[in-house]
Amino acid sequence: MCGIIGYVGGNPAVPRLINGLKKLEYRGYDSAGISFFTEVGVVTVKAEGRIANTEALLREKYPDAQSVCGLGHTRWATTGKPSDANAHPHRVGRVTLVHNGIIENYKTLKKECEAAGRVFRSQTDTEVIAALADIVYERRGDPVATLREVAARLEGSFAVTALFDDRENTVYGFRKDSPLIVAETGDGNYFASDYIAVKHLTDVYRFPAEGTVVEVTADGVRYYDREGEAAPPAPIRVTDVNRDDGKGAFPHFMLKEIFDVPDAIRNTCRDRVCEGRPAFDDETLQRLAAAGRIFIVACGTALNAGKLGKVYIEKFARIPVSCELASEFRYFPPLCGANDSFIFISQSGETADTVASMRMIKSQGLYTVALVNTPNSTIAREADGVLYTRAGTETAVASTKAYSAQSALLFLLALGLGMQKKTLTAETAAAFTKNLTKGVPAAIEKILADTEKIKAFSEKYCTAPSCFFLGRGPDFFLAEESSLKLKEISYIHCEAYAAGEIKHGTIALIEKDVPVIAIISGDKIRAKTISNAAEVKARDAKVLTVTDRLVPGEDETADDICVADCPCEELFHICAATFFQLFAYYTAVGRGRDVDKPRNLAKSVTVE
Ligand code: G6P
Repeated sequence: MCGIIGYVGGNPAVPRLINGLKKLEYRGYDSAGISFFTEVGVVTVKAEGRIANTEALLREKYPDAQSVCGLGHTRWATTGKPSDANAHPHRVGRVTLVHNGIIENYKTLKKECEAAGRVFRSQTDTEVIAALADIVYERRGDPVATLREVAARLEGSFAVTALFDDRENTVYGFRKDSPLIVAETGDGNYFASDYIAVKHLTDVYRFPAEGTVVEVTADGVRYYDREGEAAPPAPIRVTDVNRDDGKGAFPHFMLKEIFDVPDAIRNTCRDRVCEGRPAFDDETLQRLAAAGRIFIVACGTALNAGKLGKVYIEKFARIPVSCELASEFRYFPPLCGANDSFIFISQSGETADTVASMRMIKSQGLYTVALVNTPNSTIAREADGVLYTRAGTETAVASTKAYSAQSALLFLLALGLGMQKKTLTAETAAAFTKNLTKGVPAAIEKILADTEKIKAFSEKYCTAPSCFFLGRGPDFFLAEESSLKLKEISYIHCEAYAAGEIKHGTIALIEKDVPVIAIISGDKIRAKTISNAAEVKARDAKVLTVTDRLVPGEDETADDICVADCPCEELFHICAATFFQLFAYYTAVGRGRDVDKPRNLAKSVTVE
């Protein structure tokens, strides 16, 4: 988490650092700060809250800053609450630095630094790195040797950039398990935690290896490993980036991105359909089709899309699928064998737990497939096979169009696997492909054409401090995603329950006017979920049923019934997801929430 930017060149550093931070804000926005060289040495400006607070301070204190070298940071708080004091950069003695990641042994190191006379002003683990660097620098007098020694003492994950008072206009950096890139551009030389910060300047960057200390000046970039100066790492040329086209006339990115859903699905499927049928790269398809079991590993919304993927793959290709939380999987992997394959789903391609899970599986020689939205991301680069969703840049923290595109791609993949395994005829696959590529975007456009209705439902139902979603099978998986969407941006306490389970505890929470949203599709479990809706209605809950069609008599168990258009019951969940994305959006707007940047969250979670 958190964003890092560093700059040295022939141009003013301050606007470049601020611009870089704005591009990285999706990694965290609890506080921001920059440090830069001036005639009186290194100065720091930092503040809790959004970058605008730091900018205001800069205008007040350094309106004419001409510095050509500095570094900056936008923070998602891990160790130490969001505050001015805990904001980066941190300075101890002659060292000023910023850090992404977590230092697990910081308490031990802190005691050691205190014993050596260093005084701490923050609660962060980062300040310990600065203190340790100051102590080592006193002894060694060389920034590269100092940072190598410091890096060797740190446990955990880190990307660090640092300034040393007496090394004017030079930025140093090093990393372990946390990304940090170097870009030499016509505008100057940059460090960044993510290529996104420099993509307007170059399509080439380098990724320093762990154990390397990098020294960046206006004249060039030097890499030092244990042996001394080393050859630079190979350049990475970015051939494919998501277009970032702003939010246009929409009041929020989230609303714009919900309106992008039909195109996100069309663009994602366009790559993967040939003559009306799913068309996947041979090796990926064959390896997955041959698997004894497919494991889908992801976090958050991406995992919720994976759960729909399980339903599709098991139905069409008859391959057993297990869905795993990456944060659990990496430490408690289920038993798996050489015949199993693994799909890692991620919008960003950078989520720490998903990356670590993938590396763990790769290191065992097992086959990995990435299903990602961000070209050239870590997961895309390292997996054996890559399937891209083409949702475009997703900026709002709450994932919408990426989820819809992931679900659509998994549906198409399941059809492809079904054809490969001959569990599905080519004609059936073609019919479903048409429903997905034509029917689904059209159905979602119908949902988008009637946002007033959804807004009215949100006003009627989201009045209580908590809310429940019920469903069975794939309806439950959509309930989980809908509940997550609503809670993350509205801050209403939401729970999704497999409808049959509520009477084993949760029903105790149902009282008069508690909103319950029942999701019901298909025939198989229709009557069962209807009975569960009746059970909560009998206890005076306020019930909204969202379904694929109207069935006479079902209205007795709901206060309202809403039909979400869909071309067939198998595709109901991808269509209805947009209903719930809008439902969450309007609820959050109604409550005055910061919809695109909800509290405590970040778009890309690069710490465990
Ligand atoms: C964060 C985001 C979620 C996202 C999850 C996984 O929590 O706020 O929207 O679903 O990370 O992210 P990924 O980029 O791996 O899909």
